[in-house]
Amino acid sequence: MYVCSCFGITEQQVKQHAEDGASTPRQIASACKAGTDCGSCVRRIQSLLGRGACPRRELADRGRPVLSAVDGQDGLDGLEEAA
Ligand code: FES
Repeated sequence: MYVCSCFGITEQQVKQHAEDGASTPRQIASACKAGTDCGSCVRRIQSLLGRGACPRRELADRGRPVLSAVDGQDGLDGLEEAA
């Protein structure tokens, strides 16, 4: 089943990247681009990764404003910075 239709990434591929060490949607995006186009799959990727992938926690750990960042359009705020 596809998780990211923009890049044709399946649930199995996301799980494989997670097993290989990706623990956040950003790291999944770095591995296979999933979530970097329309962004509609990011929540699904987060749910596949589990609680550790919570973007609020990740942003809070970096001292970023939590609610304003999470309320963004696609949940990928800051993704470009890491690329
Ligand atoms: S469905 Fe994944 S970026 Fe569009």
